Amino acid sequence: MEYNGDEKLQAIDEYVRGKLSEKRYNHSIAVMNRAIELAKIYGANERDCMYAGLIHDVAKEVPNSQYLLLAEELGVALDEIEKNNLLLVHSKIGAYIAKTQFHLSDEICDAIRTHTTGCANMTLLQKIIYIGDYTSEDRDYEAAKEAYKIVLNDLDDAIVYALKTTFKKLLDSDILIHPDAIDAYNSLMIEKKKNKCK
Ligand SMILES: [Fe+2]
Ligand SMILES: [Fe+2]
Repeated sequence: MEYNGDEKLQAIDEYVRGKLSEKRYNHSIAVMNRAIELAKIYGANERDCMYAGLIHDVAKEVPNSQYLLLAEELGVALDEIEKNNLLLVHSKIGAYIAKTQFHLSDEICDAIRTHTTGCANMTLLQKIIYIGDYTSEDRDYEAAKEAYKIVLNDLDDAIVYALKTTFKKLLDSDILIHPDAIDAYNSLMIEKKKNKCK
């Protein structure tokens, strides 16, 4: 990767590469690239998108048996849903690492924290990292391709599509749904209704 003299980017890249398998590292690069592409379209801060995209899954390969212990050790508070769906925990620990190891801004850390679920009233950066993760080049499922088509025209519509598709999948597989995801869906739908009435 080209750092162009950005020492922070280099430090994050080296750290992430040390923590992840080649496949997941390549995914991180793909999310970073998608986030930069979306930043250009929607006028977000490209550097923030770069850092957040690259580091978002840094804690994804912590063994399941260690997530709860690690969260407790770091003082990362988990709710009941997270404790019962460990897939969600990597986002919170990733945000913690971004803050403590790299002193990334609260806005970037929030985007890492919500990249799996979304949340109510997402910032532009949160939206880009959420949908950048869903539509990254390495995703081979149809829904990712469809969401990518949508996101080139409308960021919020793409997130609503991704949330709906995820809800259906989670329901079919008897997996818990985090309230932040429902909040994300409701807040985007309310926003859409308001815009229609204008
Ligand atoms: Fe993730
Ligand atoms: Fe990811």
